[in-house]
Order: sequence, then structure tokens, then C-alpha cells
Amino acid sequence: MKGISVIGLGKLGACSAACFAAKGFNVLGVDINKDFVNAINNGNASVFEPRLQEMIDKAESRLTATRSYEDAIDESDVTFLIVPTPSKENGHFSNKYMLNALELLAEALKKSTKAYHLFVITSTVSPTATDELLIPLIERLSGRKLNDGFGVCYNPEFIALGSVITNFLNPDMVLIGESSKEAGSMLESIYHKVCENSPYIARMSIISGEITKISLNSYVTMKISYANTLANICEKIPGADIDSISGALGADKRISPYYLKGGLGYGGPCFPRDNRAFAAFAAEHGVDAKLAKTTDEINLFQVDHLIDLVMSHVNGRQDISVSILGAAYKPDTPVVEESPAIAIISELIKKNIKVNVYDPIAAENVRAIFRECVSFSSTVRECLETSSICIVAIPSDEFKTIDESYFMHAETTVIDCWRILDKSRLGNKIKYIAIGRFTNEYCYAGI
Ligand SMILES: NC(=O)c1ccc[n+]([C@@H]2O[C@H](COP(=O)([O-])OP(=O)(O)OC[C@H]3O[C@@H](n4cnc5c(N)ncnc54)[C@H](O)[C@@H]3O)[C@@H](O)[C@H]2O)c1
Repeated sequence: MKGISVIGLGKLGACSAACFAAKGFNVLGVDINKDFVNAINNGNASVFEPRLQEMIDKAESRLTATRSYEDAIDESDVTFLIVPTPSKENGHFSNKYMLNALELLAEALKKSTKAYHLFVITSTVSPTATDELLIPLIERLSGRKLNDGFGVCYNPEFIALGSVITNFLNPDMVLIGESSKEAGSMLESIYHKVCENSPYIARMSIISGEITKISLNSYVTMKISYANTLANICEKIPGADIDSISGALGADKRISPYYLKGGLGYGGPCFPRDNRAFAAFAAEHGVDAKLAKTTDEINLFQVDHLIDLVMSHVNGRQDISVSILGAAYKPDTPVVEESPAIAIISELIKKNIKVNVYDPIAAENVRAIFRECVSFSSTVRECLETSSICIVAIPSDEFKTIDESYFMHAETTVIDCWRILDKSRLGNKIKYIAIGRFTNEYCYAGI
């Protein structure tokens, strides 16, 4: 095989391109953002993601980038499209960027003398988009017929920001929706060279692949919202503990332990919108996806629930400040899209409460949203010194070291959304509240 081209060198595309190249393929990346193209050509990561630089270094001269779609067609046999597909008001995904890229690629293919090219749609698209919109566009502009002059696969990734590289190289499952057996086999052979484990390869029609992608994420969000409801119940009942319960539930093979923790809601660029897209797709076909809609409602409620808790501790006091430890939607990523912490900060600001944030990776993105409405600390200690209420919003390992010595305010209330702090090290004066556990008057850390 000649090589691989990757259109879109953002959070997922850069990692995919670097992994393909690190595993021995010649890879040409294409992006409309010239800074990203330059970064890759200079051997640097175009976005922040743990281990991305390591993969780029391993790729050596096999990874290059361009802004030319002709080069992408000429220098590769397989093109992965990993461009944004933002959500629309109605819950469906916009195909705007995908259509722009495919238009130029199909025109380049028309000029090419090669016999066959494989297009792999990796971006999340609404079910039916590939068959009804993307393939007809390629046929029209390239003058070729599907499965004759070109093939198409739908091949979304199930990765989490912060662990994209590890997830990409060790997937539970590789999902391939294929326009023909040949197209699917060509793609599968790439994954056999790239994966460090032996994942389940799920090959199916393109429409089944599109439905699988959003239903998988919708199911995971349902699990999270279920665990969060359980956590809410535990908070009301003396002796009940979400971790004991979810640990036992997760030991049952029918359930599994993942995404069953109970804490703040889910966020990020995929889960909320994929779940809403699932409900929108179902509605379009006359099915009321009640579970998906309730999952979303529960997720939004978790923010209100936390705000009620914070306000009960503000208790009418003026001039109170709240410190937020972690503002991204999860640890190890600068991404703040649909982050529960961002929703919490926003609500606190509306209530005229001062907010101080510590998140070394996401600070710039938080500043871009709130500007001078929030203040920032460069260390956990500094952040805690500014406030008498502290919310641990993401389960970062760094926060596990917090002890008594971090607190200046004698009567600090700590709300630990993920139960990662060691209560016994916080001293007697800290009021420790763990989401998912019963809290009473006697919740001072030393008691
Ligand atoms: N990031 C994730 O965690 C994740 C996980 C699973 C699926 N996805 C899906 O992958 C797709 C990409 O997501 P992302 O997070 O990498 O987005 P991103 O915004 O980080 O990156 C997209 C890149 O595409 C480039 N681009 C836009 N239009 C282009 C065009 N016409 N030609 C070339 N480049 C173009 C942008 O400049 C940008 O660099 C989305 O559909 C998303 O839903 C993302």
C-alpha cells in the first residue's frame, strides 16, 4: 500500500496520523490550519495530548503534512477524514466541514489516474449521512462509481481525550462499516498493523456502523447517569456508600465496572452530543428514546444538585469565594467543552460568588470563556488559600496529596465530587463532603 492520508490534524486526527506513522505507514496529514501543518512538518505536536509527541518522534520522517488535497490523493491509497462535525440545534451533526473536504478530495480523485481509493469517515456523523450524502457527493464530483473507482468505510474511534494514544493502540473493538468486503478488508489490514492488542473487529454495513457509534456512547452516558442517581440516593441515607455499591454492581459481568463511579456528570466533545444525536435520530424515525432523554436531564441536574449543595454552605454569607480544582471535563486534557466544572463556575458567577480556578492544562481555555470574571491560581495550595469552599471537580492524581497543611481558612468546606481526598489527613477543622456519601453535622474530617 502506498500510504495513508489523514484530513484534519486536530485532537483525534493528529493522534491517528502519528500512530499510523509510528507503526510504519507513510502518512500525509492535511489541515486547513497552517499552524498545525507547520507543527507536524517541524516534528511537533499540533495539539496537546499525552504521548502524542512520543508517537511523532517514533514516526521519524514517515509523518509529513500539507494543505494540498491533490497530494493526499496522489500519495496515499487510503484517506481518513477526521474533521469537526459540530452539533446542530436539532441534535444532528453538521456535515459542513466533511462536505468541504470531500468535495476537494473527490475533485482531486477525478484528475487522478489511479484505479481505486478508499475513503474512511472517522468523524462522528448522523446515521444515513454517509450513504445518502457523502457517497453521492464523491460519485458526482469524481465521476466514479462506489466500489468501482473508490470505496468507503465508516470507522469511528472510541477514545477518551487524555488517553487517545493508549486507547487508539489498544481498542476494545474496531468498528468498520463497509461499502464492500474489499474496502472493509483493506481497512482491517491497517488495524492489524497498528493495534498492540487483538481487538474485536466489528464489520457491518455503513448504516449499522453509524448507529453503533452513537448508541454505544448513548449507552455509556446512561450508565453514568444511573450511577449519579445512585450517588444522589446514597447522599440521603446514613451508612450508604456509592463506591461499595457500584463496586459490587460492576463485578457482575452483565454490568462491568466502567463509567459507574457516581460523581459529577459527563461532559466533553462526544458524550453529551452523541447521546442527544441518538435521541434526535430515534425521533426522526418515530421512536421516543426516553432513556437517552432522561440521561441528558439527569446529567444537567447534577450541576444544579452541586450548586444547591454549595449554596447551602455559602448560607447567605457575603464576600465568599469558591475554589475549583480542575475545570476541564476530565483530567489530562485542556478541553472544557460541556465540562460540568464550567457549568458550575458559570452558575456561581451568576450568583455573584467569586471563583478561583486551578487547572494548569485547561486554564487558558477557561480564561477564554470567563475572562476577568474568574481568578486563577498556579498551584493547588494557592487556590485553596483563596477560598473557604473548595470543589474537587475532576479526579486528578495531583489532588490526592491535599492534606491539612493546604488550608488557610480555618473552616474550609471541601466538596469532593470523586471521593479522592484522604479524609483522615485533612485535620479536624475541614468540613469534608463527599458526593455519593451521607453527610451530617459531624462530617468534619477528623471525626
Ligand atoms: N476528540 C475526541 O475525543 C473524539 C472522539 C471520538 C470522535 N471524535 C470525532 O472526530 C471528529 C474530529 O474531532 P476532533 O476532536 O479531532 O476535532 P478538532 O476540532 O480537534 O480537529 C479537527 C481538525 O480538522 C481541521 N479541518 C476542518 N475542516 C477541514 C478541512 N476541510 N480540511 C482539512 N482539515 C480540516 C481543523 O482545522 C482541525 O484541526 C469529530 O467528528 C468528533 O466528533 C472526536
